[in-house]
Amino acid sequence: DLRGRSVLISAGGTREAIDPVRFIGNRSSGKQGYALATAAIARGADVIIVAANVNLPPPAGSTVVEVESTEELRTALVGRCASADIVIMAAAVADFRPRATALHKIKKSDESADPVIELERTPDILAELVLGRDGQSRPIIVGFAAETGDETASVREHGWAKLARKGCDLLVVNDVSDGKVFGRDENEVVILGPGQEAVEIPRTSKSHIAGARAGGC
Ligand code: C5P
Repeated sequence: DLRGRSVLISAGGTREAIDPVRFIGNRSSGKQGYALATAAIARGADVIIVAANVNLPPPAGSTVVEVESTEELRTALVGRCASADIVIMAAAVADFRPRATALHKIKKSDESADPVIELERTPDILAELVLGRDGQSRPIIVGFAAETGDETASVREHGWAKLARKGCDLLVVNDVSDGKVFGRDENEVVILGPGQEAVEIPRTSKSHIAGARAGGC
């Protein structure tokens, strides 16, 4: 049912350089993004994966564009978004990056003070893609959210707030308390969509989650 449709998927986790050898990164493996690509290909779609630091074999039939940083991910997605029918932002994008990248490796010496790395916010790519859609209904844009509950709200409440803030069509919410998700083959999510629709997918493989339906998709 996705024959002739083009699906753009971001996967993995971005890395932000501190100096030529060090970076700020995250634990995303890219497994959920690659599972989504495999499911979309099985349904007949043309799939482009923009992969940030993923160490997995590319799904057969996909086109993989490799990137490292948030800025590279942004450029790769913004340039391809307008020709996509569906965009799925499964990548874990760094929220902060060093304000400046040192040209040379930062040396440790006993005399010098501990280095301080000043951070700045990265651009919110998902929000930018939603804005760039300019009121049109295409592409359908799906976000992911890794949440933990806290004293102010539950995981799901944080998810609803994020869906409203980001303005995407669907939000796939993971509960990442206790390291339950990263690098694993299984996950458990709730898909939040239009009209307060919430589809719960109990613990199952990331491939099964990739095949789940919500919001009429
Ligand atoms: O705001 P938060 O990082 O929780 O939102 C998660 C969603 O937003 C994911 O779909 C992620 O790919 C996307 N994101 C983004 N650009 C950022 C941060 C997150 O596109 N700078």
